[in-house]
Amino acid sequence: MATFVIIYGTQHNHTYKIAGYLADTIRAQGHSVDLMPGRVKLSRAELERYDGVIIGASVNAAKHQRYIEKFVKAHRDQLERSSAAFFSVSLHAARQKVENRAEVERYLAKFSGRTGWQPRRIATFGGALFYTRYDLLNRFILRLIAKRAGLDTDTRSDYIYTDWDAVKQFGVELAAMTS
Ligand SMILES: Cc1cc2nc3c(=O)[nH]c(=O)nc-3n(C[C@H](O)[C@H](O)[C@H](O)COP(=O)(O)O)c2cc1C
Repeated sequence: MATFVIIYGTQHNHTYKIAGYLADTIRAQGHSVDLMPGRVKLSRAELERYDGVIIGASVNAAKHQRYIEKFVKAHRDQLERSSAAFFSVSLHAARQKVENRAEVERYLAKFSGRTGWQPRRIATFGGALFYTRYDLLNRFILRLIAKRAGLDTDTRSDYIYTDWDAVKQFGVELAAMTS
């Protein structure tokens, strides 16, 4: 049995949900998984106890959570040496068109540029639109982003674009690497 930790950044909890699903998948492969919010303070020794470290973050205004960037910067050498993985959640990741892929690549490049970390294993997952929960300004902004991304613009409903099978597959692959 290997031990994993998933450290996640989230705005509206959707990345937390994905992290939870990933954790359940890895546990189902016989491993233990700790789930921690991205503002957690972990010492070098505490992080070293894990066989696998997974960092997850969502995109907000074209960048990932600053506290996740901070965590990654602080532990970059350890992440590089271990079999650490990164997953990024965004609306553009929900579609496979060239322009969507290019936008997601920009988010990933910005993340690597700001943290100095080039994760060897990366997954990108479509996020969620919670129109009914946003305030007026965010509803307006998100509708614009959704339109650009080719997603739903009817703000009377919420939408989840995550491909849960892809999340599961990522979890199975990560679990297999430490077996
Ligand atoms: C204020 C705001 C800004 C966002 N900006 C982007 C963006 O620039 N590009 C994108 O693809 N998705 C963007 N999103 C969509 C989020 O990445 C998506 O809703 C994701 O599911 C959020 O996950 P979370 O609930 O864990 O934060 C934005 C969402 C919000 C609320």
